[in-house]
Amino acid sequence: MADNDVFHIMYTCRSMRRLKPDPVPDELIYQVLDAGIRAPSGGGVQAWRFVVVTEPEIKRQIAEIYRRGWRIAEKQYTEAGASLSEDKNLRAAAYLAEHLAEAPVLLFACLRARRIHAKRLAAANATNFLRIIGGSIYPAVQNILLACRALGLGATLTSITTQYEDEVKAILGLPESITTYALIPIGYPIGRFGPVTRVPVEQLTWHNRHGAPFRKP
Ligand SMILES: Cc1cc2nc3c(=O)[nH]c(=O)nc-3n(C[C@H](O)[C@H](O)[C@H](O)COP(=O)(O)O)c2cc1C
Repeated sequence: MADNDVFHIMYTCRSMRRLKPDPVPDELIYQVLDAGIRAPSGGGVQAWRFVVVTEPEIKRQIAEIYRRGWRIAEKQYTEAGASLSEDKNLRAAAYLAEHLAEAPVLLFACLRARRIHAKRLAAANATNFLRIIGGSIYPAVQNILLACRALGLGATLTSITTQYEDEVKAILGLPESITTYALIPIGYPIGRFGPVTRVPVEQLTWHNRHGAPFRKP
């Protein structure tokens, strides 16, 4: 696979949580966002909005919120039996929580609320709508992660700050109508991009009916 082959990019697009503080040129961030917005969205409405945070004081305030959320998550993981010293992912997540403000770019992916959303959320089957609402932003987030990877930038989809939406909104000056869905710290990675390992397809997939195996050809 060539280095810029889309499969190579997908297969090596790990969460990169250890980032150098070196600045990332705005041109690259623009390019990443320009790839992000090629994603599909419900009705093609493109209600996504983004905030590119590079100002140290804003990053510091966001990092403080993130750390607070991480401490709670960390406690939950430990109570559930996870070992912070043995779990590589948790160690990296803890590192990110301690160093978030050092990431040169904190990118927020948001959605602008639409009148139709309020209507659907008030309907009896609102939970069906809740299942898809993030579908109008997460494909763009994935495009952003892939574009970062293709440009040699490390990035991670994070969600911890969404628990503190009002505080985040106040810091970013976001109006009520805009909701954050992900915070993506972006920067040049300290480590190397490695292979993404996953449970294989055949263990997760059925053929036509639940329980019928879909085997690897
Ligand atoms: C919905 C969602 C929320 C996530 N939130 C966080 C987060 O708050 N902090 C974090 O460090 N990683 C977060 N992640 C990243 C996952 O932990 C990561 O993708 C997963 O462990 C797989 O690791 P990999 O991306 O390196 O393959 C999130 C991922 C998803 C899809």
